[in-house]
Amino acid sequence: MEDYVLQMNHITKLFPGVKALDDVTFDVRRGEVHALVGENGAGKSTLMKVLSGEYTDYSGELILNGEKVSFKGIKESEAAGIAIIHQELGLIQTLTVCENIFLGDEVCQSGLIDWDFEYDRAKELLDELKLKVNPKTRVGNLGIGQQQLVEIAKALNKNCKILILDEPTAPLPEDDSENLLELVRGLRDKGMSIIFISHKLGEVLSIADTVTILRDGQTVETRPAKEYSQDTLISGMVGRELKTLFEPRSCPIGEVALKVSDWSVFDGINNKWIVRDINLEVREGEVIGLAGMIGAGRTELGMSIFGALDDAITGKLEYRGRQRQRFKNSNEAIKAGVFYSSEDRKRYGLVLTSDIAYNASLSSLDKYISNGLFINRDKEYGKVKEMVKKLRIKTPSILQRAGNLSGGNQQKVCLAKALMTEPKVLILDEATRGIDIGAKTEIYQLINQMAAQGIAIIMISSELPEILGISDRIYVMREGRISAEFDNSARNITQEDVALAATGGVTT
Ligand SMILES: Nc1ncnc2c1ncn2[C@@H]1O[C@H](COP(=O)(O)OP(=O)(O)OP(=O)(O)O)[C@@H](O)[C@H]1O
Ligand SMILES: [Mg+2]
Repeated sequence: MEDYVLQMNHITKLFPGVKALDDVTFDVRRGEVHALVGENGAGKSTLMKVLSGEYTDYSGELILNGEKVSFKGIKESEAAGIAIIHQELGLIQTLTVCENIFLGDEVCQSGLIDWDFEYDRAKELLDELKLKVNPKTRVGNLGIGQQQLVEIAKALNKNCKILILDEPTAPLPEDDSENLLELVRGLRDKGMSIIFISHKLGEVLSIADTVTILRDGQTVETRPAKEYSQDTLISGMVGRELKTLFEPRSCPIGEVALKVSDWSVFDGINNKWIVRDINLEVREGEVIGLAGMIGAGRTELGMSIFGALDDAITGKLEYRGRQRQRFKNSNEAIKAGVFYSSEDRKRYGLVLTSDIAYNASLSSLDKYISNGLFINRDKEYGKVKEMVKKLRIKTPSILQRAGNLSGGNQQKVCLAKALMTEPKVLILDEATRGIDIGAKTEIYQLINQMAAQGIAIIMISSELPEILGISDRIYVMREGRISAEFDNSARNITQEDVALAATGGVTT
């Protein structure tokens, strides 16, 4: 008999107009890492929300340690030893690490929170995770990798037996991902079962013991991880032939579209330069990659060009052959034809409570105004529908709330919004984060098409293979400065070249 800690049998879950799960079966053994893979919208997060008691209106059965269970809420699943770390981190930024770990589970003595106990216990958990921060640090001051570990500390504190990690490494740079994977292996070796969701298939194959593939809400198969290669995983996930990830681009590179000189950004709150003396240009039809570690200043550079930073900016801007004033705000930039698509889709990208159409056309509404007054909805919706189709956004309608879309599909809506402004210069910040391999292929094709139309593209990305595969030229940033520039027209630059420059190994 197999030692299953969890069995989910015949799970079906409907949303209005969407069959998110259709008779799914999913079994997890004790002490294994079980990867759950599938395209955006396949149903991975929904299945985990059924397991954690967030959804109660499903059909099918849950068997935990051989006993049938049904959870009415997340508290009940936690009490049964299940902890979930969501795709979007759920920590409260203004609270301390310690407060976050014990949030909802405060330890009290005579009716008062026992801070000393909590502090010591938090310290113990952080030590176990090799996270060297003071439990009294505010979470908002931590990097995303560290926040991820705090989430895990919180789960460990609940003494969980099954840990669900929904795309834990999506926002993490390579080093932090590797640490996290090591940690997961350690937890497994202590007998914990880990359900691991990721679109990074290399990572899936390196960490998983077992893999279950979901497609369109159905289980395709469950097999030992060692029976898979990346290719067989992909074909199981997408169920169709995929084109080459990076098709060669042969479009001519034209005039300089945008150029910044001696560009610096001073962060008044923290009293330091976050971007320093940047000289960078991008040409029509050119894709440049902006690589670097988290905190290297890439996002700030992108946002400052777009006029979306309040910090003090100095430096010159040349746009389409002319020196001009820096963009005072993002509206001015958008009107001129520059768009920056944010890495932080929750904060800057999307209004989750509004529908897809609203979100997608948010930055381009003036294109749909007729008679100077009215918005031509037919025209607007027509364009949104075209985008939904082009980007294969999985939704029953363009009037679906953005918050109801799967994570990857929300990311695609951000992209639709960017494209609808018809930019001449497009800055994409981590545009493919959390996007499945099929959709990535399509986005790279789209980037090629845009380049062929003469659009200049700046791609900020922490995924080196993506930077190397798509960029004609690569700038590497480190500590606010450009530490290297590579001509990648022959696609011959290597991960090592870029990584060295990002960490301070070389300067060219
Ligand atoms: N609250 C909701 N209301 C309506 N539809 C929903 C809701 N949550 C999810 N869906 C739909 O259910 C399907 C499965 O979504 P789910 O979030 O489980 O996908 P996923 O596999 O986690 O995708 P991703 O890789 O993009 O995170 C999608 O079509 C999604 O739009
Ligand atoms: Mg998901």
